[in-house]
Amino acid sequence: MSYHYNLTSDYERLAGFYESITKKSEGIVFDIGTGSGILSTWAAPYANFIYAVEKDSIVAEKTRSYLNGFKNISFIEGDAREIRFPEKADLIICEMLDTALIDEEQVPVINSVLKYLKRNGTVIPQGVINIAEPVHMEAEHLYYEETENPSHHTLGPLIVYSKYDFKKPINPEVDFDLQFKICRDGSLNGVKITTFTLITSNIICGPTPMLNPPLLIPIEELRVKKHDTITINLNYIMGGGLNTIRTEIKEIS
Ligand SMILES: C[S@@+](CC[C@H](N)C(=O)[O-])C[C@H]1O[C@@H](n2cnc3c(N)ncnc32)[C@H](O)[C@@H]1O
Repeated sequence: MSYHYNLTSDYERLAGFYESITKKSEGIVFDIGTGSGILSTWAAPYANFIYAVEKDSIVAEKTRSYLNGFKNISFIEGDAREIRFPEKADLIICEMLDTALIDEEQVPVINSVLKYLKRNGTVIPQGVINIAEPVHMEAEHLYYEETENPSHHTLGPLIVYSKYDFKKPINPEVDFDLQFKICRDGSLNGVKITTFTLITSNIICGPTPMLNPPLLIPIEELRVKKHDTITINLNYIMGGGLNTIRTEIKEIS
């Protein structure tokens, strides 16, 4: 089953995008990382003109012929960061999301295309919120939790550690000191990251099968007790890939 087939079968993800795109599309629309092209086709009845951009040549071949039938969509194959668009956009749709924006190019791409957004323009999705939890995980390696049967248990309450608004430039290199309160004795060996997508200010999409499954990151194992406070340093580069993730236990009190 192809990646794009799975994306277009994830109805929870699609419902949020459908509602926002059909309400917010007008004037000039960019659909950056158009993939299957589905988001452009939803914008088409409401927009004057759409630039749909896709850099993967295999995906582009199929999407070009699919979007060909739409008079107001121009399909462009290429890296969105290198394209010189002939006009500015009222709406930029840029959906290259992944958990904490680490492994996809959402941040470098949105940073680059923002100069084409009109002053009162809109970006869909609008941003993301990242949360972290201290966990005991069974595996010793980093993985996305894509099943409904978790292979970890939580040792303390979650914290919101970062929020991003895609209408503002974002520094892709991040460094956080996560302070966790432990609420039960156990062996702490991981941090679980969950990302919620703000499609618009009033449509929040949680993790769905194809949108940001929780990411489990192993850390050095540590026995913890109820009421401990543990500070873990987490840093990574958004758009730099999962191998940029570093963790370090900084303080136990
Ligand atoms: C998560 S898929 C989303 C597809 C589509 N937006 C949707 O919602 O069905 C992201 C797409 O962005 C494309 N992409 C990634 N980096 C890109 C870039 N720099 N320029 C253009 N397309 C890019 C990928 O090839 C992929 O098809």
